[in-house]
Amino acid sequence: MKVCRTKQELKRELKERRKGGYSLGLVPTMGFLHEGHASLLRRARAENDIVVLSIFVNPLQFGPNEDFDRYPRNEAKDLAIAAEQGADLVFAPTVEEMYPSKPLTNLKVEHITERLCGASRPGHFDGVGVVVSKLFHLTAPDKAYFGMKDAQQAAVIEQMVLDLDFDLEVVKCDIVREPDGLALSSRNVYLTAEQRQQAVVLSRTLAAAEGWLQDADLTIEDVMAKVRDAIEEAEQAVIDYAELLHYPSLEEIDPGMRTAATEGQLIMALAVKFGATRLIDNQLYAWERG
Ligand code: PAF
Repeated sequence: MKVCRTKQELKRELKERRKGGYSLGLVPTMGFLHEGHASLLRRARAENDIVVLSIFVNPLQFGPNEDFDRYPRNEAKDLAIAAEQGADLVFAPTVEEMYPSKPLTNLKVEHITERLCGASRPGHFDGVGVVVSKLFHLTAPDKAYFGMKDAQQAAVIEQMVLDLDFDLEVVKCDIVREPDGLALSSRNVYLTAEQRQQAVVLSRTLAAAEGWLQDADLTIEDVMAKVRDAIEEAEQAVIDYAELLHYPSLEEIDPGMRTAATEGQLIMALAVKFGATRLIDNQLYAWERG
C-alpha cells in the first residue's frame, strides 16, 4: 500500500496504475478510522480494481468554535486499518498541500443545506463541497463511498455530482452501529463513560419513532413531541435538532399531517449534544401505505 503526501505524487501513481483502464473506488475520510470506515473500504475493495483512501481533516468544513484542532487523529492506526482492508493507495496531504493558498472559490449546494447540520453548522457543507470536489478531480473515481450516518452530506454530494457532471457514482453505505445501537463516529471518543451510556438514546428513539410513525392516530407534531421527550429522558442530552423530513430533498413535512398521510422516503434526523460533544444519527423510513 502506497501513501502519497502530495497531489503530484498521487496523480503520478494513479496515472501509472490506471493504464489498464482499471476502475477506481474512492473512500474520502477525515481519518481516525473505525469499523464504519472499514466497511466502506471493504465495499470499495469488492467493487473496484483500485481502492484509494483519503485522510484529511478539512479545516474548511469546521466553524471557528468547532473541534478542528482537537479532532482525533491517529495516522498509524489508520494506515494499519487501510492495509488490512486492502486499500491500494492512501492520500494523506497536509493542509498546506491541499490548500497552498486560501481558496477563494466556494461551493454552495442550495436548498438541501438549509436545514439540519447546514443550519447548525453554517458553511459546513460549502467546505465539504470544496474538498470533495478537489478529491474527485484528483482521483477521478468511478465510485465514491459515503456513510449514511451523514445522510445530509450524502444527499448534498449526490446533488453536487449531478449538478456539476462529475462522472462517478455516489455509493451510500449503511450506518454501522455498536452492539447497543450507538452509531459509530470518530467523535464517540470524546464521550465520558456516563455520556456514552446515555448516547444510546439516539438510536433507541429512532427505533421507537418507527412505531410511532405507523400509529395512524398521531400527527407528525405528536410524533416529534414524543421524540423530543424520549431524548430528553437522557439527563445530559441537549437537542440541537430533531426533524422529520423528506429524503433526499430534505423538504419539510406539514406538522399537522397524520402519519398515515405521509408518502415516500422520510428521514428522522437527530443531532444531540452531550457536554461539548455533538452526535448525529438518523433513520430512513419508507413503507407502503395501505
Ligand atoms: O464525512 C467525512 O468524513 C468528511 O465530511 C469528508 C466527506 C471526508 C470531507 O472532508
